[in-house]
Amino acid sequence: MPAWHPVCPYETLKRDGYAILELATTAIAVFAVEGEVYAVEDACTHDGGELAGGPLEGCTITCPRHGARFDLKTGAVLAPPAVVPLRIFPVRVTAGRVEVDTGG
Ligand code: FES
Repeated sequence: MPAWHPVCPYETLKRDGYAILELATTAIAVFAVEGEVYAVEDACTHDGGELAGGPLEGCTITCPRHGARFDLKTGAVLAPPAVVPLRIFPVRVTAGRVEVDTGG
């Protein structure tokens, strides 16, 4: 069952490039890229580095710690040292606000 959590206004996300949704057990990084919105767990699967704020080229995020690269659309690993994909989350813009479905 969907559990939509508000993140921020879409205009704020567009201006800043990313936003963080802090939950009790995890943090989710939300990105605005080329008119689309993506949400991934803000923890690199290599060694837990925060991804938000890392270099972003199109939909490719680079972990600032050791350089693993991930596809924000699918969570797929594009470059080592990570080997496990990122967890991704459904995200939507409703009435100008960004929301992430954490799945309950
Ligand atoms: S923690 Fe991200 S590449 Fe090592």
